[in-house]
This record gives sequence, structure tokens and C-alpha cells, in this order.
Amino acid sequence: LVAGVDSSTQSTKVVICDAMTGEVVRTGRAPHPEGTQVHPDRWWEAFLTATADDLLDGVAAIAVGGQQHGMCALDESGEVVRDALLWNDTRSAQAARDLTDELGGAQEWVSRTGLSLVPSFTVTKLRWLAQHEPENAARVASVTLPHDWLTGRILQQGNGFERWTTDRGDASGTGYFSAETGDYVPELLELAFGRAVDTPAVLGPREAAGRTAAGLVVGPGTGDNMGAALGLGLGPGDVVVSLGTSGAVFADHPHPVKDSSGDVAGFASATGGHLPLMCTLNAARVLTAAAAMVGTDLAGLDRLALAAPPGAQGLTLLPYLDGERTPNLPEATGTLGGLTRANATPENLARAAVEGMLANLAAGVDDLRGLGIPVSRVLLIGGASASRAVRAVAPALFGVPVAVPAPGEYVGIGAARQAAWVLSGDDTPPPWTVTIEDTFSPSGRGEGDDVRDRYAALLATVHGS
Ligand code: XUL
Repeated sequence: LVAGVDSSTQSTKVVICDAMTGEVVRTGRAPHPEGTQVHPDRWWEAFLTATADDLLDGVAAIAVGGQQHGMCALDESGEVVRDALLWNDTRSAQAARDLTDELGGAQEWVSRTGLSLVPSFTVTKLRWLAQHEPENAARVASVTLPHDWLTGRILQQGNGFERWTTDRGDASGTGYFSAETGDYVPELLELAFGRAVDTPAVLGPREAAGRTAAGLVVGPGTGDNMGAALGLGLGPGDVVVSLGTSGAVFADHPHPVKDSSGDVAGFASATGGHLPLMCTLNAARVLTAAAAMVGTDLAGLDRLALAAPPGAQGLTLLPYLDGERTPNLPEATGTLGGLTRANATPENLARAAVEGMLANLAAGVDDLRGLGIPVSRVLLIGGASASRAVRAVAPALFGVPVAVPAPGEYVGIGAARQAAWVLSGDDTPPPWTVTIEDTFSPSGRGEGDDVRDRYAALLATVHGS
């Protein structure tokens, strides 16, 4: 047996899989506190709760997939200096703008790191810390990411800890690492923080981070989106649209990607390749908020949205309820456009919420196409992929068939697959397969075009982009 951990924004999920077939045999779960900053000890406590009741019995190897980008700053003795600032914390918006200017513009960052700076990326959080909390900043000796920290913590528990480690996938989301060369770019970290600090050693895709006293092999781990890609086993033409706390659009690609528009981050994958990715701050929770607005639950929102005509009779939602990352509008709020007395119904509002959330992600699918990445089907995963309305609306907006894999913890499954790969020592990951539960195809009549056009027009009117 092997274990995979998904230490995500909202919870820790642990899946135990058969190392040969990938079959999930049992799972554990525990919640994280709300908020965009959290002490990493809460992740450790959640991991202990999720693995209580001997969940790890008979497990030979484990690996961690974690929310990307979070800044876990440590002092000389490895103690956490302050609460980790998470990927969805936008306080470093000004730092992102300043760093962009200081290096000579967004293209400079894209050419050196594959990333155009947004407040999600670790490097901007380091600048914020240096500027706003100089006493904390003075204590920082090293900086780790959520998956690096939890991997180290598992090894510390078993006395198997030697050094902090990371992998190419998660390191590529820091802003001081190049997915193209596979090396850190230390001068960018220094530019942000004013001095050098230690960074975790970058392990290969199946290089163990260590072994606990109990003999459990600990894999390198990776970022959650890289983990999901490994769990789904993507082929050419597959594009994932993940509807969790974040919305993410990504594909496995053999070559480094540098998007001059800045919308697509040129991340590395967990398998030695690349993972171009577009990310939004507003996905599944747009539906929860819309359901609350019309006084229903998620099932009720589905019923309402499906009762409205496509296009919601001209009602359009820009769903930037938590600010937005793509488009890069960290201080934005949501906008409802085209409201008239005739279309002001709960049904249309529910439909506009589903269409608005998906229209923003459809722009990400187009961005990948524009970069020459083949798009022949979308794999829809994450909490909101269970929504009947989302499944019904998505094909028209994405313009390709939408396949919904059987419900599963694909980040955790990907981490478990990595653990099995480390154990096997083979050149390629074990051949686990994924079951597709249902596929939805577009009608071919361009029914999503009107929604996409209205969305783009409202975005241009309100935000000028
Ligand atoms: C990706 C990103 C999010 C987090 C969510 O760049 O910031 O998808 O990884 O956990």
C-alpha cells in the first residue's frame, strides 16, 4: 500500500492506494482553519487527525501534494516565523507591482522564471514580509512551501529528517526558480527579500526525501495541481479544469512555456515535463455564494440554473468575489451586468453564476490553445464538477467535449502514485488508470459564444482589460 496526502487550502485528505493498481482502499480527512494565513502546525494536526485510527497501517511509502506558493518562513532552528501566507492572500499586490517594475517589467520575470508576477507567488510574499514585518523578516533563515514543510514534518516525527526538500513542480511556483533550467534564480529571491535565505533541495520526480524511523519511505511530493496531473495521467490534448477553492486550467506539456500575456504560468510538472497553468481565485465558492444569495443550497442552485435559458436572458456575472488573479485584478470585486426588470429572477442569477465562473476559465482554455498546446477534451475535476448545471454549461463554453472522471481525490491519488513510483524505482510511474464517469459534448452551434462575448465586453467596460 502507498499513501497520498492532499494538504489543500480547506482540508487535509489522505488516500491509501494499492501500489500496483492504484485502487483506493481507504481515506481519511480533517479540516483546516478558514483564512488566507495559517500556522503550518494546523496542517500537521490535520494530518494526524486524518491518519488517526491506524490509517497508515501496512503503508510502505507516502508523498504529499500541497497547495502551491504558500510562504512558510523558518528561523535558524527550523521554527515557523509567522503564519504561512497562502496562495489566495492578496496583501502582496503592491509588492508584485513593485518587483515587476524593479526588474524592468513583466517580460523580464517571464523570461527568467516563466511567471508574470501576481500576489499568489511566494516571491511577492517575501517582499511583503521584508517591508511590513521587519522583525519577523530578520529571523528568517529559510523559506519552504506547504508541501515541503509537511514532508519535512513527517520525517521529523520519525527522526528521518536531514534537510528541507522540494520538487521541480512546486519550486516552479515560487518566482525564484526557472522551470526551463531546473535551477533556483537566487538573485530574484535576494531582490525581493534584500538578502539570501536557504531554499529546499530540489529532488527528482522519484527521488525519496527520506525514510521515517518506522521505515516509511517519503517521496519528494509536489504542488497540488502537479499532483492532480499525475493522478489523472494526462495524455496529449487533455486539459484539466479544476473547480476547487481555486479554478485551475492546465495541461501536461513537454516544453517550457513562456506566456508573454502573463495569464499562463509556466510551471514544471511532477514527472520531469511542464505544466502550463492558468489560475483563478474564484471557482467553487462562487456557486456557494450565489446559492446563499438566492436562499438555497448547491442542489437548489443547480435546479434554478438549469431552469433558466442559456445566456440567463442577458445577465452576466464577473465573479471576482475574492479579488482576481487571472485577469490580474487583485483588488477587484464581483459585478453583475445587464440586469433588467425582465431578467431579475433567481433562475437567471443562478445561471449567470455558473456561466460567469466557467467563462473566466474558458479564457484560460483559449490561452493554452493560443500557446500551441493541443486541446481536444477537458477533464473536469474538483468539488464543483459534481454540479449538474456546471456539467451542462461547460461544453458550450469550452468548445470541446468535457469528460468528468469518477469522483476521486486526484491530488492525493497523484501523490500516492508518486509514492508508488519511488518504491518501484522504474523509469515511468506505475500504469494506474482513471475511469471517466460521463462525457458531455458541445452541440456545435456555438451556443457559448454569446455568453463569452458578453463576459469579455463587461470585463472591458468595468476593468478596461
Ligand atoms: C495554482 C494555485 C492554486 C493552489 C491551490 O497556481 O495557486 O491552484 O495551488 O491549492
